[in-house]
Amino acid sequence: MIHFNTHWFAELTSTNDKCMEMASQGADEGLVIAAEFQTLGRGQRGNKWDSERGLNLTFSILVRPTFLAVADQFYLSKITSVAICDWLTAYLPTDLVKIKWPNDVYIGNRKVAGILIENSFSGRNMETSVVGIGINLNQKNFSDEIPNPTSLVLETGKEMPPKNALEELLYCFKSRYEALVASEREKISTDYLNLIYRKDIFCKYYSEGVEFDAKITDVLPTGELILQTPGGEVKKFAFKEVTFLI
Ligand code: BTN
Repeated sequence: MIHFNTHWFAELTSTNDKCMEMASQGADEGLVIAAEFQTLGRGQRGNKWDSERGLNLTFSILVRPTFLAVADQFYLSKITSVAICDWLTAYLPTDLVKIKWPNDVYIGNRKVAGILIENSFSGRNMETSVVGIGINLNQKNFSDEIPNPTSLVLETGKEMPPKNALEELLYCFKSRYEALVASEREKISTDYLNLIYRKDIFCKYYSEGVEFDAKITDVLPTGELILQTPGGEVKKFAFKEVTFLI
């Protein structure tokens, strides 16, 4: 059983940084670090994560999944993105809520949440994992630099206090994390694949200077994406090797 121990901060550089610092000092699994504002919020691919002060959720969960092989680390991405979808579908029609591979959460064609997981390993197994989550809740205006953002309020018309949203999200994360601890891997993978944005739909992708049509048919246990072209050619991509043209 995972028990959460939540600490709210008015301002941090990054909740992932604070969570990692406390992990290195021996904090227990279940530590949750949340901030009303991050001065150096980090995103995937070295991008920054911008979030207006006090309006959204930016938090990190510490887990110690020592039962998980390094080769299976993508399960942490799966359970986190699926847990966010579990939570969102309480407020939105199920078919609108999707996971853009590998772990962005979308409402329609717009991104509402991002995940940055930072791991440490011990031999062949995981040691600690800091699961950083940013969710746009009450923000209505976004910088033009962010490609296709949305927020819960823009999609539902209703504002939600970040602290309430965090409680609900932790409940969803707990359920999915405990399923992983209980080795319910097949269900996790099926639920993840069923939520994949543009699964089985021919769309445009871009890789190595070439634009092409393809449909997503699968995501491998390693996290690699499988695309199939209209001619039947099967292509495999690791994270950052392919761009969705949206
Ligand atoms: C992405 O989509 O690029 C990932 C964004 C992850 C943002 C969250 S906000 C809380 C945690 N702290 C950070 O600095 N980043 C993650």
